Amino acid sequence: MAFTWYQSDESPAAPGPLPPQPRFLQDIQLRFLCPDDLEEVRALCRDWFPIEYPLSWYKDITSSERFFALAAVHQGLIIGLIVAEIKPYLKLNAEDRGILPGWFGTNNNTLVGYILSLGVARSHRRAGVGSLLLETLISHVAGPTPLPPYHHRVKALFLHVLLTNSEAILFYEQRKFRLHSFLPYYYSIKGHCKDGFTYVYYINGGHPPWGLYDYVKYWAGVALRGGGVCPWLWGKLRAALSLAWHH
Ligand SMILES: CC(C)(COP(=O)(O)OP(=O)(O)OC[C@H]1O[C@@H](n2cnc3c(N)ncnc32)[C@H](O)[C@@H]1OP(=O)(O)O)[C@@H](O)C(=O)NCCC(=O)NCCS
Repeated sequence: MAFTWYQSDESPAAPGPLPPQPRFLQDIQLRFLCPDDLEEVRALCRDWFPIEYPLSWYKDITSSERFFALAAVHQGLIIGLIVAEIKPYLKLNAEDRGILPGWFGTNNNTLVGYILSLGVARSHRRAGVGSLLLETLISHVAGPTPLPPYHHRVKALFLHVLLTNSEAILFYEQRKFRLHSFLPYYYSIKGHCKDGFTYVYYINGGHPPWGLYDYVKYWAGVALRGGGVCPWLWGKLRAALSLAWHH
């Protein structure tokens, strides 16, 4: 898979305001995970996440091309990683359907990116590494030169987060991710059920399903663009009358 290396000052446009980047970011290398990273990645994830992932999961993210699995490396050690899977919107689980309006669901071309994992070593947090990894993912699916199979078909990036993970929630909200839904008892952690949230970041023209306000705004815009409210209303009335006449 082709990959561009970013120096911190060349990084693509961020979804939200970025904190000042300390100098050490310039020494960070970004590369895709490989099978040799398995044990290092497993040790990091055990430290970062309360969930125990099976060995097969680590094998998958370190070897399968299905995943966008990117590591931030500093002085030869992995200090951060992001793992995402780009998949057809139609294949999402029931709880995740609804992040896009219905008409995206009828289009086989629509893709979405699910962020399975994002973590930074405790010693390197709040220094921009998480943002760098996230921006790199975003630029690969929504930048001026997206990765070839994705083009501009990826309409949203989304993730699940524990309701109690306030650090991660602040991080995503600062980066313009929007709260989409509450997931009661979504996680099972050491035998206990825990609630979660779904957060979504819209790209490439993707947007949340419309509410009443959006419909009113849209039709008002159509009416005004069509030469004023009266011709538009008259057109609608004429169509309704003709339908009634023929039935
Ligand atoms: C969430 C996480 C990836 C952020 O990585 P990071 O490298 O620290 O992120 P950045 O330095 O790019 O951005 C930090 C921003 O996140 C938010 N943030 C992160 N930790 C925070 C904290 N303890 N208190 C308040 N805000 C916090 C702030 O907006 C902060 O910006 P600021 O430093 O300008 O205030 C990191 O905290 C982490 O690895 N957490 C554990 C794993 C995890 O929960 N991952 C998310 C699973 S969905």
